[in-house]
Amino acid sequence: MARLWSTSILVLVCLSFLSLILAPVHSTLKTPSTRDEVVASFQSWVDRVGAKTDAETILNKTEINLIPCKAGDTVPERVIVVDQNGGGDYTTINEAFSAVPPHNIDPITIKVLPGTYFERVVVPKNKRCITLQGAGRDVTKITSSFVANDTGTTYTTSTFGVSASYFTARNISFENSSPPPNGKRMHQAVALRTTGDFNAFYGCAFYGQQDTLYDARGRHYFKDTLIVGSVDFIFGDGKSLYKDCELRVLSHRGGSITAQKRHNFSEDTGYSFVNCRVTGSGPATAYLGRAWGPYSRVVFALTEFADIIDPVGWYSWDAARESTVFYGEYKCFGPGANESHRVKWAHELNDTEAQPFVSLDYINGGLWVTEE
Ligand SMILES: *[C@@H]1O[C@H](CO)[C@@H](O)[C@H](O)[C@H]1NC(C)=O
Ligand SMILES: *[C@@H]1O[C@H](CO)[C@@H](O)[C@H](O)[C@H]1NC(C)=O
Ligand SMILES: *[C@@H]1O[C@H](CO)[C@@H](O)[C@H](O)[C@H]1NC(C)=O
Ligand SMILES: *[C@@H]1O[C@H](CO)[C@@H](O)[C@H](O)[C@H]1NC(C)=O
Ligand SMILES: *[C@@H]1O[C@H](CO)[C@@H](O)[C@H](O)[C@H]1NC(C)=O
Ligand SMILES: *[C@@H]1O[C@H](CO)[C@@H](O)[C@H](O)[C@H]1NC(C)=O
Repeated sequence: MARLWSTSILVLVCLSFLSLILAPVHSTLKTPSTRDEVVASFQSWVDRVGAKTDAETILNKTEINLIPCKAGDTVPERVIVVDQNGGGDYTTINEAFSAVPPHNIDPITIKVLPGTYFERVVVPKNKRCITLQGAGRDVTKITSSFVANDTGTTYTTSTFGVSASYFTARNISFENSSPPPNGKRMHQAVALRTTGDFNAFYGCAFYGQQDTLYDARGRHYFKDTLIVGSVDFIFGDGKSLYKDCELRVLSHRGGSITAQKRHNFSEDTGYSFVNCRVTGSGPATAYLGRAWGPYSRVVFALTEFADIIDPVGWYSWDAARESTVFYGEYKCFGPGANESHRVKWAHELNDTEAQPFVSLDYINGGLWVTEE
């Protein structure tokens, strides 16, 4: 079964490379039939789009999602404009996503002009390679206000849900505007959920309270992004790098910045925060993380902590998890970074231990991140 699966993936990979190779010049290249030929054609694609990892390494980690988008220089640029005042192709973000054909691998940009869009959107698995571009996170916002007590599950509360791979968002805000948890209802209220692989967010903002950003599954890159929340506001089982981000804690009754859900030792997921800033206001404090999954893995590197972090730093949720979680801090600073009261089972990392977490390699960025 595994063999069949990987064979069919390779075939799909070949087909998509071929369409890339054949699109611009009607060359006489034959369909790659051996692994070496697949590697070679993939390498030529890698060379063309400027990715930094070699094809062999990529293919050894091949998954269905790896079928890349067509390079921007091989297909005409398609831009769909959303303007709620009627000056674009559509007035709602949902209509623009509906206009993208299924099984898309062409790069498509959906440009959203300034405004607050009261919508709930799901980007399905088969609508890949879409960039959602706002006019600035302070002027373009998509918002809704469902909490788990309304919908029955946390997953279904999201204002914006991404199931597709190769999704990118820039300069736009995602909000769940439900009120802070009061202990009386199920207050999980997601602004954005992603289960897609290879998603990148640049200059975005996520606003919420409990469970703002459901970083549920897949490899993700968050850069220059603001994430606001109170309880477990970055959570799930994704593998993500957060670089140059601001994490803003609204701690009414205590909370946690992260709740990472790695299930077991062999699962390769975790969150890494590099060169970020934790800001916030009380009256209560927040943990850096608590262990939603028994093998929860989170690292904060070179990050500034305001005086909003609980001095113990981390919470295991269950004493048995103290020996299986991996929580690390590396050269963090600021009033919240004093480690003298930290739990004994968290780590201050040395250079060697921090190294795997601090670069784009953590999320195999060389395969797919086109802009650092
Ligand atoms: C890829 O996998 C093959 C087969 O397991 C192995 O021989 C090769 O060394 C691997 N290459 C890399 C770059 O990991
Ligand atoms: C878009 O986001 C980038 C950060 O990725 C930022 O440098 C730029 O100023 C933003 N542009 C607008 C119009 O907000
Ligand atoms: C929402 O909360 C009310 C009580 O405030 C409760 O009766 C109801 O069952 C809850 N709904 C869900 C879906 O949990
Ligand atoms: C580890 O957890 C993942 C995700 O739940 C699961 O798919 C996998 O089978 C588990 N592996 C082991 C060895 O338990
Ligand atoms: C850290 O906290 C301890 C105990 O409260 C205190 O003695 C020490 O001076 C603090 N270190 C820094 C760098 O503030
Ligand atoms: C870092 O810590 C590891 C133990 O986790 C140790 O083996 C290694 O020698 C240390 N490296 C440095 C440079 O201190």
